[in-house]
Amino acid sequence: MLEGKRITLGITGGIAAYKTAELVSSLVKAGADVQVAMTTSAQKFITPLTFEVLTGNPVHTDLFQNDFSGGVLHIDLAQKTDLLLIVPATANIIGKAANGIADDLVSTLIMAATCPIMFCPAMNVAMYNNPICQINISKLKDCGYHFVEPASGRLACGVTGKGRLAELTTILQSIDQILTPQDLAGLKVLVTAGPTREPLDPVRYLTNRSSGKMGYAIANAAALRGAKVILVSGPTHITPPDLVDIVQVETAIEMHDAVLKHSDSSDLIIKAAAVADYRPVEISDHKIKKQADSMTVPLQKNPDILGNLGTRKQEKQVLVGFAAETHDLELYAKSKLINKNLDLLIANDVTLPGAGFDSNTNIVRIFWTDGTIEALPKMEKGQVAEEILDRAAKILRTRRGES
Ligand code: PMT
Repeated sequence: MLEGKRITLGITGGIAAYKTAELVSSLVKAGADVQVAMTTSAQKFITPLTFEVLTGNPVHTDLFQNDFSGGVLHIDLAQKTDLLLIVPATANIIGKAANGIADDLVSTLIMAATCPIMFCPAMNVAMYNNPICQINISKLKDCGYHFVEPASGRLACGVTGKGRLAELTTILQSIDQILTPQDLAGLKVLVTAGPTREPLDPVRYLTNRSSGKMGYAIANAAALRGAKVILVSGPTHITPPDLVDIVQVETAIEMHDAVLKHSDSSDLIIKAAAVADYRPVEISDHKIKKQADSMTVPLQKNPDILGNLGTRKQEKQVLVGFAAETHDLELYAKSKLINKNLDLLIANDVTLPGAGFDSNTNIVRIFWTDGTIEALPKMEKGQVAEEILDRAAKILRTRRGES
């Protein structure tokens, strides 16, 4: 997402300034070209040298440092930026920006920039809650500036409350969101992820090897592209993305109920979950004790959630299913595409290294209703998610009569 993006970071004078070194390092690692501008106060907390080393670029500290060919520093920097970040944003810089004051390089950059601008406030809780600061924040939000809310916790001044700089992952996710084209804005996307667990007794269950990575990657990508995302997830170890509404379920029946609750109002449904086809007929209310050398557990069929969605699919709704296969992939994929009334079927041969369960990558073939089969190379699940969303968005646009 950040490859080749030009990001300017304005650092102002708060103790959280030291945390910006890690932020800059993450941005550079993600491929961004990072320029840093610092206020005089910021330089009391951390030195420009740190950022010169991390970015490989000179650090800008002086509004009147017009020593490079043919440009006025603040105008040149502001124009060559895709995103201006103000981290940490003190009450002072927020107040200046809200009132049009431009008396140093960072505040002048804010006035001169036409790109998106994102403030990450960090300050003492009383300063943050001060009505003047809150009015200034509201004013800036009304003008279209972005804010990443500070977190609550123990502050450097010893007080506990809201005012800590937001977590790095939250800041990075907000940056991704701002820089991502919002082609799914206004759409509701329902995604399922992970395995289901079908209990046998209070201590045992039947499940499968799904980690949830594929479904979570789709949910995250759709949210970054502006969709309202409901993620119905079986048990996983993944932290839910900030931007999605998560519904945690355990069994196939719970997943069925949660999915059907949201399906009619969804524009796009993507079922990446690995749902157990069968569940034990009886759940013992006590631990089943070891007895004979062998035992048989009677199973009954779970509802086919995707099949039910296909039956009740609305005219403009797009339905995408997955198929995890170990053999005869094409045969099974085609039959699932047709029998479940899908618009796209994403098939993965889970026997291939780097594909299917638990890996960070996947190798998928995409089956279209006109008979087209696209074979994608091995890619990160995040990239697979983008490829699926690109195609689903195209079908949605056609169905809605949009270009
Ligand atoms: O979670 P990861 O570790 O990242 O792994 C990703 C994945 C391998 C789980 C994913 O890429 C994948 O293939 N998901 C579908 C797995 C699966 O259950 O395939 P299936 O062929 O058994 O089911 C076909 C489709 O019907 C799936 O969309 C499934 O969600 C759906 N289904 C299946 C059974 C059922 N009772 N109800 C369903 O809705």
